[in-house]
Amino acid sequence: MARITASVYTSHVPAIGVAMDLGKTGEPYWQPLFSGYEKSRQWMKDNTPDVIFLVYNDHATAFSLEIIPTFAIGCGAVFKPADEGWGRRPVPVVRGHPELAAHIAQSVIQDDFDLTIVNRMEVDHGLTVPLSLMFGQTEAWPCAVIPFAVNVVQYPVPSGRRCYNLGRAIRRAVESFDRPLKVQVWGTGGMSHQLQGPRAGLINREWDTAFLDRLIADPESLAQMPHIDYVREAGSEGIELVMWLIARGAMGDAAGPGTPRVAHRFYHVPASNTAVGHLILENT
Ligand code: DHB
Ligand code: FE
Repeated sequence: MARITASVYTSHVPAIGVAMDLGKTGEPYWQPLFSGYEKSRQWMKDNTPDVIFLVYNDHATAFSLEIIPTFAIGCGAVFKPADEGWGRRPVPVVRGHPELAAHIAQSVIQDDFDLTIVNRMEVDHGLTVPLSLMFGQTEAWPCAVIPFAVNVVQYPVPSGRRCYNLGRAIRRAVESFDRPLKVQVWGTGGMSHQLQGPRAGLINREWDTAFLDRLIADPESLAQMPHIDYVREAGSEGIELVMWLIARGAMGDAAGPGTPRVAHRFYHVPASNTAVGHLILENT
């Protein structure tokens, strides 16, 4: 039986990937950010899963205004890093897990969640930057990765409640896969940031902190928060945070023996225009 061992939450700011690729991580601007991930990299070495189910958003790279899937699961064997305008990042190709991905698609679609099945796509900073943050520079990612893209770019976006319930369906799917795999579910994007318009540069530390507290201890009520609250309080791109509820929904229940253990928590401002938040939760 496969099982979900932990979930990881992190921002995906593209400039973080650039700083790593150009060897700038020791510069005064970046050093405090990367030091917050040192513990995470050790934790990843000690807790390397077989598969990461990586929830992220595509930024008009693989998809565009022509086709906008709300939820898309990568069922292919290989996903290349995309060229987002400055060439492909010098990071390894992503190896998928077609068998587990197909099983999750089957289970979750029969559980009434509509997924788009994607057999070929390239992955942008939304997926590669979290991998870089957690694994550092490496010749090959040390495990398989199933990309799971969520539309948070073009309205209407899915509600937090739907994301949370989808996470629970993903948990049921993983637990019904007949192979002894250790699976992590990652929720990425956020935290508060707005890249456009009069409020560009918006950061809301207080709101972000409360979001992290509630994600850990009270995800059920957090999942009821309407999308407009994310946009109002965390900025237009703060809506990326609904994706964290998919990963949280895939963990144990909030109360009782299923409460996840906080292995690491980190928050840092600034990274480019974004407040960086990071959490590692272990299933007990
Ligand atoms: C930035 C943040 C993002 O989430 C993104 O997709 C692009 C840019 C930024 O802060 O620069
Ligand atoms: Fe983004």
